[in-house]
Amino acid sequence: MKVRPNLLQQYELEPALLPQLPVKWTQEFGRVAPLAVEIGFGNGEYLDWWSGQHPDWNFVGIEMPQDCVIRALPKFAQSGRDHIRVVRGDARYLLRELFAPNSLEHVLMQFPMPWTKAKQAKHRVYSPQFSTTLADVLKVGGFFELVTDQEWYAKEAAEVLGGSGYFKILAEETNPERPFRTRYEEKWLEDKRSIFRVLAQIERTANAPRLLDQETMEIVHLKKSPLPEAVLELAGKRFSQGPSVLEIKEVFTAKDGWILYIVTADDSFSQHSYVRVQQKSDGRVLVRLQPRPRPYPTPAVHFALQELGRQLDG
Ligand SMILES: C[S@@+](CC[C@H](N)C(=O)[O-])C[C@H]1O[C@@H](n2cnc3c(N)ncnc32)[C@H](O)[C@@H]1O
Repeated sequence: MKVRPNLLQQYELEPALLPQLPVKWTQEFGRVAPLAVEIGFGNGEYLDWWSGQHPDWNFVGIEMPQDCVIRALPKFAQSGRDHIRVVRGDARYLLRELFAPNSLEHVLMQFPMPWTKAKQAKHRVYSPQFSTTLADVLKVGGFFELVTDQEWYAKEAAEVLGGSGYFKILAEETNPERPFRTRYEEKWLEDKRSIFRVLAQIERTANAPRLLDQETMEIVHLKKSPLPEAVLELAGKRFSQGPSVLEIKEVFTAKDGWILYIVTADDSFSQHSYVRVQQKSDGRVLVRLQPRPRPYPTPAVHFALQELGRQLDG
């Protein structure tokens, strides 16, 4: 069956464009229903199947690469899954910002990257920070389910989640019977490898402070037009303040000023965006974010605009 492109649009949500977070999911789906999330849905086959099993629930998929989103949306459209929405980005951050406390029934992650090196541990889904996020957004009695191809990862996840004081570990299984398998899982099992599943239930909720501190992004007004060398010299520079980091990757000259390609990071949550330094015909010089891609207004993004203002004002 062919899918009309405009049919796909209804599935993808760009929360950075919404006036308010957390998202009002009841309004978005047009109904009150239990809410479940799949993190890293890959090609979307499990989310398609899972949502088919629960037509009376609402589902949100979070993935990072656009390619995954492009492959998954036609599946949802072909199956007529009006109760799925997809958000692109890093779930370690988005889960906390998109969902209200105590609002989710089930969070599922299948075959996450194991991040084997010690310094990458903060990326793992069971890092203490992520456990707290899960314990904030899940309802008491709600589930976090992890399926992985790494035994040590499953063991550590069960230990960290179980020891956090928020979760009770209901199951730790090797090669469990599963009603539906992803393509990744099929391939892994064909190679005669094992899979591991951890099912944790929330017993006590936590409080995970949100990063977003205001809804709109400010515009910085410079005192005067900066020297072109001063702007061009920013390329490659890095500034930081506490956990907020700004890196200026490239500077492009534009008709009425410059465009700066920047990366900001709040701890390990990084965002790519463009900042425009614009000399207006009325003499004002503005520093502001370009509308696309629109970053979430995190402390690091606020810091970036202020710091660029300071650097350019000399
Ligand atoms: C090995 S693939 C597995 C895909 C799918 N779950 C499956 O079983 O076929 C892992 C997926 O998790 C996604 N992923 C990893 N960390 C993520 C994060 N923090 N937020 C959202 N997606 C993430 C990756 O982009 C990737 O598509």
